[in-house]
Amino acid sequence: MAIFQVNTATTLMDTIETVPIRTVTDIVIARQRGRDRALSMRFSETEATLIATIISELARNIVLYAQHGEILIGSLDNPPRRGISIVSRDEGPGIADVQRALLGGYSTSGGLGLGLCGVRRMVDEFQLETAPGKGTTVAVKKWAR
Ligand SMILES: Nc1ncnc2c1ncn2[C@@H]1O[C@H](COP(=O)(O)OP(=O)(O)OP(=O)(O)O)[C@@H](O)[C@H]1O
Ligand SMILES: [Mg+2]
Repeated sequence: MAIFQVNTATTLMDTIETVPIRTVTDIVIARQRGRDRALSMRFSETEATLIATIISELARNIVLYAQHGEILIGSLDNPPRRGISIVSRDEGPGIADVQRALLGGYSTSGGLGLGLCGVRRMVDEFQLETAPGKGTTVAVKKWAR
């Protein structure tokens, strides 16, 4: 997938793990995997919690709006930088008004509408691809401080 072809000369992505998302239990599993990955890459406790939160929000959106999809967790080894890549993708209904969804405070489910804009603020790189009827892919990267 094109999203992974980031600066391949210097960025090495290894061990991408895929967590299928369908149920609330899957959200918990994905969240834990992200946390474990962050800690194994020497991210701080706080950063690991942020990674877990990001995954949680993206996975929750999959369950809520698309019913099923997947979360991909990858390591970015670009010395001296260490980072984590998270991709959330589904083939659900897509987001009709992306600008509004990213602004925050907009929810089609009676939520707070803070998931996506919160994720955006927690990461270093944020990409969202969506189209009505075509599904949604959110790809983010976070570097260790
Ligand atoms: N994967 C997705 N597929 C389709 N629509 C989505 C998806 N993710 C988000 N959306 C749409 O974007 C809106 C904003 O999402 P966001 O996560 O920011 O808020 P929310 O889920 O409504 O509330 P919460 O604050 O509880 O996360 C959602 O209400 C929904 O309409
Ligand atoms: Mg949400």
